[in-house]
Amino acid sequence: MISWKDDYSVHVKAIDGQHKKFFALINKLATIKSGERAAIGTVLDELIDYATYHFSAEERLMQQHGYPRFEEHCGYHREFMNKALLLKNDFGRGKDIEPSEVMEWAGAWLHQHILRRDLEYAPYVTAKKK
Ligand SMILES: [Fe+2]
Ligand SMILES: [Fe+2]
Repeated sequence: MISWKDDYSVHVKAIDGQHKKFFALINKLATIKSGERAAIGTVLDELIDYATYHFSAEERLMQQHGYPRFEEHCGYHREFMNKALLLKNDFGRGKDIEPSEVMEWAGAWLHQHILRRDLEYAPYVTAKKK
């Protein structure tokens, strides 16, 4: 299990709150046993919905502040979405998805993405406008 810590702060309250919620959703996978298809399907849907919501909020913020690496950052978000949608697709076609594997992948992705990418835009979106 992985949870939010101060090191992850981008100093935008709304975004930090969204990251906390994102981790909480990922951790829900720890309570699901292998083969509990209904529960796995629900969490996959929730993850996809929440990622869509969070990524668009972040992208709006970066754009508003003219973040120079906006396009690149959107690309990282897209990679996550593509993989999540692929999982959901496979699952929908009857493939068994291990909750622990999804948790490991999504947890590691979010951890790295916040530290490497989200913290990179933080100074831009928190800077005072002239
Ligand atoms: Fe983020
Ligand atoms: Fe991001």
